[in-house]
Amino acid sequence: MIPYGKQSLDEADIAAVVSTLRGDWLTQGPAVPAFEDAFAAKVGAKYAVAVNSGTAALHAIMRALNVGQDDEVIVPPITFTASANCAAFEGATPVFVDVDPETLLIDPVAVERAITPRTRAIVAVDYTGHPCDYDALREIANRHQIALVADACHSPGASYKGRAVGTLADLTAFSFHPVKHITTGEGGLVSTDNPVYAEAMRDFRTHGITKDPARFLGLEEDAPYAMPDASSSSAIAEQGPWYYEMHSLGYNYRMPDINAALGLSQLTKLDAFVARRRKIAARYQSAFELAKGVRPLRVREWANPAWHLFVVRIDFATVGRTRTEVMQELREQGIGTQVHYIPVHLQPFYRRHFNTALGQCPVAETAYVELLSLPMYPAMTDDDVDTVINAVSKTVCGK
Ligand SMILES: Cc1ncc(COP(=O)(O)O)c(C=O)c1O
Repeated sequence: MIPYGKQSLDEADIAAVVSTLRGDWLTQGPAVPAFEDAFAAKVGAKYAVAVNSGTAALHAIMRALNVGQDDEVIVPPITFTASANCAAFEGATPVFVDVDPETLLIDPVAVERAITPRTRAIVAVDYTGHPCDYDALREIANRHQIALVADACHSPGASYKGRAVGTLADLTAFSFHPVKHITTGEGGLVSTDNPVYAEAMRDFRTHGITKDPARFLGLEEDAPYAMPDASSSSAIAEQGPWYYEMHSLGYNYRMPDINAALGLSQLTKLDAFVARRRKIAARYQSAFELAKGVRPLRVREWANPAWHLFVVRIDFATVGRTRTEVMQELREQGIGTQVHYIPVHLQPFYRRHFNTALGQCPVAETAYVELLSLPMYPAMTDDDVDTVINAVSKTVCGK
């Protein structure tokens, strides 16, 4: 079976995890900061904050930006639900805007039209691993003084006009789920150059608790900064080595050391994984270039994508077979495919709670009925890719 996606793990990855298991820390040990430092260096960002999923990374971003009730966050519908949910978690309203018909990336013209006095942030999703048009989005964000967030869960290792994903937005979210470029089992991370955001996200992932004496407020309103000494007015003001303070309502979103150790080992292979994905994409592209009925998404000249997914559009009505039938026929030939994504604004939750509706994002809705993700993972051999090409050509084009 050739699945649509799959992790690549080797003996070095296994040894890294085993060595953490034999050590003193399963969580909150040295592997997390080591992974954060290595990842920040890799993408060229000043700070990296590791968390336990890409969803947690997006949620931490919303909290760092103080997004809340009455705020709006602009997001495209062709994405995983978490890109929008992060705003809803904090009581804000995700505002869905349509996508570019050729790349299916958020359309800057649609973004501009959707901005209101309540808009606080744009979440740009690098769908399939292709970076969004960050210069256009940056210009809009600066002019309206709103934050630019990158959901780069599909695009570690990608670049935009030669600049690495991870530094193009104010905050960038990554996911390390097994089908992504590198994995920590489950895991996520935010990169940013802003120290205030980084500190807010570190608090948020640990219950909103700080152990930094320089930031202590004191438990008694009248005795801030009191240190344990005999002159202390009250025993309650004593701050000993056990002492910590909770300043905000946070979560336990920490990445365990076991996972970070795997991430550190995987990170050394990111470039090789991306290079292989690019080769596979090139093979698909040249095979489908002239094929009737199978249309790969367009790649902009300013993008060097990281190819999390290889998505094609198929006009199933013209082909005379439903998408389910095509997927089933491919499965019978040992090929796994997927659909990314059901437009998020059509999900019952959003229709029910945010009054979204069919017709709101026509480009995304039209694209959705044609989308099919073909297998894409670094361990695919050229023979595997050719097997997929032949099976898809036969099933869809009849040859
Ligand atoms: C675009 C996008 N954003 C966010 C996420 C959430 O990441 P995670 O599954 O690590 O929570 C995903 C994962 O599927 C994703 O594809």
